[in-house]
Amino acid sequence: MSKIINELTGVPRTLLLPLRGRAETQNHPHPLFQDPLAVEWLKLVGWNQELDLLYGKAAKVSSIVVAIRTYHHDQIASSHIANHSYPVVVELGSGLSSRFHRIGQNAYRWFELDLPVVTELRSKLDTQTEQHQFIGASVMDFDWMDALPKVAPENILFIAEGLLMYLEVNEVQQLIYVMQSRFPGATLDLEIVGISTKISNKIFTQIGAPLKWFVKNQEDLTAMGLKVINSWSMYQLYVEYWPWYWKLLLRFLTQFPYFRNTYQIVEAKL
Ligand SMILES: C[S@@+](CC[C@H](N)C(=O)[O-])C[C@H]1O[C@@H](n2cnc3c(N)ncnc32)[C@H](O)[C@@H]1O
Repeated sequence: MSKIINELTGVPRTLLLPLRGRAETQNHPHPLFQDPLAVEWLKLVGWNQELDLLYGKAAKVSSIVVAIRTYHHDQIASSHIANHSYPVVVELGSGLSSRFHRIGQNAYRWFELDLPVVTELRSKLDTQTEQHQFIGASVMDFDWMDALPKVAPENILFIAEGLLMYLEVNEVQQLIYVMQSRFPGATLDLEIVGISTKISNKIFTQIGAPLKWFVKNQEDLTAMGLKVINSWSMYQLYVEYWPWYWKLLLRFLTQFPYFRNTYQIVEAKL
């Protein structure tokens, strides 16, 4: 396939960050997962140098964080698929996630939902089937919910990996409220960033993708109506994957909630 011109800007362009992270983690001596598609897709869509502000200097650390978060969502999704009769996975703000190709074979249905500009890009790289479908819409245009199959909501897993922090708090609240009314009992696997992330927001703003939703603690999520089942600090997951000096530093820093809550994965029921 020849190189694809991508004209992504703003928040959609941030999909290149995890794509590059997943591609580069394949150079690790013991990668947490295999992802040949990420390598191929990154070559085809190319990098955008403006993102060096976020990824360039800290490439190794960025790739480790992406590998860890990707692998952990993979574990949650695999377990969901194994434990439900009609497992449906919906990646919200899916970017160029290749999770379906890694672990989705036994899903009843798998949806990749992203803005039309991203879905158009995916369609040039990936193929839709009855099992694996793409939806080009904003997560805030709730009609996308009509495209999901009529299975009992417990079968549905929504993954919001690197999405909700780009939405305003009232949008996140509205989304949760509508999802809850349509799919009560479904699982939402989301990522949240803490107040400490406000420090790096200058860089996110410079690349045209300011962070907007910061979570102080779990009570913020409970107040939004989510029933939190599990939560993990990104810096306490798979610590053996970090070089030894980082391991020591993270063990020390994660004693402090302010740091521990910087970036978390949360599994919640709607
Ligand atoms: C940081 S990327 C994460 C991509 C993917 N989840 C991953 O981890 O590789 C953020 C994604 O959210 C998408 N996004 C942002 N706002 C959105 C919205 N309102 N509706 C749907 N997708 C949105 C962007 O287009 C982008 O693909």
